[in-house]
Amino acid sequence: MPFPIHRPRRLRRTEALRGFVRETHLNVSSLVYPLFVCPGTKVKDEIKSMPGNYRWSVDGLAEECRSVHDLGIPAVILFGIPESKDEVGSGAYDPDGIVQRAVRAVKKAAPNLLVICDVCLDEYTSHGHCGLIKNGEIDNDSTLPLLAKTARMQVEAGADIVAPSDMMDGRVGAIRKDLDAHGFTQVPILAYAAKYASAFYGPFREAADSAPKFGDRKSYQMDPANQREALREIALDLEEGADIVMVKPALPYLDIIALARREFDVPIAAYQVSGEYSLIEAAARLGWMNRERTILETLTSIRRAGADIILTYYAKEVARLLG
Ligand code: PBG
Repeated sequence: MPFPIHRPRRLRRTEALRGFVRETHLNVSSLVYPLFVCPGTKVKDEIKSMPGNYRWSVDGLAEECRSVHDLGIPAVILFGIPESKDEVGSGAYDPDGIVQRAVRAVKKAAPNLLVICDVCLDEYTSHGHCGLIKNGEIDNDSTLPLLAKTARMQVEAGADIVAPSDMMDGRVGAIRKDLDAHGFTQVPILAYAAKYASAFYGPFREAADSAPKFGDRKSYQMDPANQREALREIALDLEEGADIVMVKPALPYLDIIALARREFDVPIAAYQVSGEYSLIEAAARLGWMNRERTILETLTSIRRAGADIILTYYAKEVARLLG
């Protein structure tokens, strides 16, 4: 009979005791803040479905990155909205493309801030898909060289880490080979390894104007019903040379994060995506949820599941809350 000898409430009586036995800690040092960059100057355009997030022109973005770094946030991930889109997504790998210009400005404004670049074509293609279209399908192999070139252009501009999010087979290997052949052997790859075809990307697609113009992404992003397949995707990306692997989205996929943590001895990242952010913002605005508590609880859960690194639109908020 454990009771009354054992009383778990003993260790919950005061905040000092609770803090003393706390198992999981949220740290600003493992957060990544996502940012959107667009053409023009002095643009700070709020994204309707993601209040508090903006499309920044390069000048304002560089300033913003300086203050992000001042808050103690170690890294940002950049997404570009190009001047114009075409069938082959050329804005992604143009040496003077929007993200490449942004990287140069950010590295100048905040040299010690880690700049991660999302490697994908969807923001740059007129059809909104992450790969080239051939006979009405998203063609895998002809997309790989373009992804590799995109990553290399980002690195040439000064990116510290490249993060392929397209879900084409073999893209991590193609990027690693291309970077190595050009002398960039020291640049890590953060692979969106287990990326699901999720409704939670809805607000992002408004932000980046990147919704597919026909069909959906189910022929390349993972089926939300699958768990074992995530382990296979992660294993393949690691074999191809990924340094960090990511699970995305985060909260609806905590089981995947926990499994990945158990199976693989590499840094694991999780992306609390746009829809996860917007759900909390909407409920808080309606007065239905406590905003700050929900932010901290969801992020703590993602860490507890096993994520080392968290990409979150709440990074600045967390820095303030924990600061
Ligand atoms: C693809 C990409 C997407 C996100 C990150 N990279 C959108 C998609 O796959 O449709 C979504 C991130 C978010 O929802 O916050 N370039």
